[in-house]
Formats: sequence, structure tokens, C-alpha cells
Amino acid sequence: MRIGILTGGGDAPGLNAAIRAVARRAFQLGHQVSGVQNGWAGTLEDGLIREMTAQDVRGILPMGGTILGTSRTNPLKVKDGVAMAIRRLQHNGVDALVGIGGDDTLSVAAALHDAGFPTVGVPKTIDNDLAVTEFCIGFDTAVGVVTDALDRLHTTASAHHRVMVVEVMGRDTGWVALMGGVAGGADLIIIPEFQLSLGEVVEHLYRRRGAGKLFSIIVVAEGAHIPELEMEGGGQAEKDAFGHVRLAKRGIGDLLAGRVERETGFETRVTVLGHLQRGGSPSPTDRIWATRLGACAADLIAGGKSGVIPIRRDGEVQVVPLAEVVAETRRVPKELYELGQIFV
Ligand code: F6P
Repeated sequence: MRIGILTGGGDAPGLNAAIRAVARRAFQLGHQVSGVQNGWAGTLEDGLIREMTAQDVRGILPMGGTILGTSRTNPLKVKDGVAMAIRRLQHNGVDALVGIGGDDTLSVAAALHDAGFPTVGVPKTIDNDLAVTEFCIGFDTAVGVVTDALDRLHTTASAHHRVMVVEVMGRDTGWVALMGGVAGGADLIIIPEFQLSLGEVVEHLYRRRGAGKLFSIIVVAEGAHIPELEMEGGGQAEKDAFGHVRLAKRGIGDLLAGRVERETGFETRVTVLGHLQRGGSPSPTDRIWATRLGACAADLIAGGKSGVIPIRRDGEVQVVPLAEVVAETRRVPKELYELGQIFV
């Protein structure tokens, strides 16, 4: 059997560990492997599906990014896109596909399965918002980046008695903001799931000053909603092929820092962590779980399974239907959000 491997959507540390595990397990089972370059774009354009050898995956375990390249191309938005993708895979001798990605990539993978092409997924997104699974490739490393940034920002915030606003990724959910904020000791964490008003932010800052705390660290997820700021920033709606607004351009961190300084008179600075959160070498957890799930995906596809995805549940690898993982966005529950509020 020839197994294709594809990485789609935003890159995340640990993708190469997953590619390596799928390929190495496939080779061990006596199969051949093809790499699909640049996500789903590689199934819609010619010349982007290539033979992979053991040499191609040597030394890639600690590398960030993806050796296969990625894109946000969406075959579901192209007329007959899924049929075209399947035809091109078949034309290149690919019998079955392992798609590594988040909700967008996995929705396309599910569509290929529905159209009769054997496809298995692997969960990846630094946003950590796929349903059912306790683990998504890249999240652990991203939380580490936020934690390290907050440790560094604490010392300079304290030295200058400033308010530091730190904008982190998180389109629809606040997993990176909350977990990074808790690990890095943020004083206030603002996430999409729980709306906060500018008045509440200002009140919080005054309360801290009143208690003799001369600096504050606010972590805000890029997709968070602060009603007073929506009016200021409104209107910018550049979207990608999956219809998502480019939130980094919305600039909630900048807007918030500007308003905080105006309302309180406290000297305020903003740091936008942006794509730093997706770069660099994966953490041991991301490497280990990318490896476990990647190897399982290879076993599944080689065993004739399709429309399924290995995930982590109750600390173990389990296999569930792809459709379940993309059925809804997993949001931060209230109990967890409240953990961040103990330290305000
Ligand atoms: O989906 C992951 C993610 O990192 C989001 O948190 C963020 O909004 C988006 O990707 C950024 O995408 P791009 O790399 O296209 O700017």
C-alpha cells in the first residue's frame, strides 16, 4: 500500500514528529509513503506529491514547522475540489491518506472519507480546541512560549511599575491564554469564552494598585471580546479560505493597552506574541504524543480503517470517528476559567 501524508492549516511544533512516526511505522509494516506538499493545495495542483524515503524523515524530530509545507487551501471551497483531490492522489499512486491538522484540515479529511477515499486524521492545533481529544499537537509548546514570555515580562513590568498587555493566539477559544496565563502567573486573563468589560479591567487595575501592587500582567486572547473595543477596532475582516477573520490584524492587545492607559493613567505596554507561539522546537510532550498518535494513524490506515482519528482520552490513545472531533469547538469550561481568577 502507498500511504500519503499531508499537513494542513497553521503549522505547529510537533508536526514533524508526527510525519516521522507515520512514515517510520508505515515503512516498518512494509508500505510505501508519499508526502503531499503544502496541505490540500498539494492535492489540487500538479507536481506536489512525492515519494518519501527513510532518509527524508531522519533528524526531523526536534524541528518546528513541517517538512511537507502547509497552507490554508480548502478543497471544499473549490468546485469539485474533493473529487479533484482524490483523482490527483490516485494518479500519484496514493491508496490512502493520513491528514494531520485542526478542524479545517480534518473536515476535508472527513469529506474524502465520505467520498470513499481511505483517510485517517491526526489532531493538531495550538488552539487546543478540537472536540473529544485531550491532546492536540503544538498546544503544549505554545503554552511553554507564553509561560516563558510572561516570566520575562514580569521582571520588566515590575522594574517600571507598568501594565503589560500580552496578546496571545486563540481564535475561538482561550486555551493558550488561560493555560499560559496560569503557568506564567498572569494577573488577569481575558478569553473569548467569557466576556469582560473595559470597566472591569480598569477596576481590576485600580484594585491592584490600591493593594500596593505596582504592576500588572494582562493576558488577552486574540479572539476575546471587550465590547467597548469592538467599536474602535470594527470593520477589519480579512478572511482566509476557511472563512476565518485574520485576528492578529484586529489588534485587540493594542486597542486594550491604549484604552487602559487613557482610562487609568498607568504606563502601559503591549506585547503581541503572534507566530512565535507556533515556532521552534516541540516540547517533549508534543514529541511523545505526536509520535504515539502518528504511529497509531499508520496502523489504522494500514489496517484498512478510514474516517477515524487516534486521540488522547483518559491519558491513553483511543480511536474515534473523525466526524466527532470536528463536530464542535471545545471551549474552556467555567471551572477552569475560574482557576485564573483566584490570582487577580
Ligand atoms: O489556528 C491556529 C492559529 O494559530 C490561530 O490561533 C490564529 O488565529 C491563526 O492560526 C493564525 O493564522 P495565520 O498563520 O494564517 O496567520
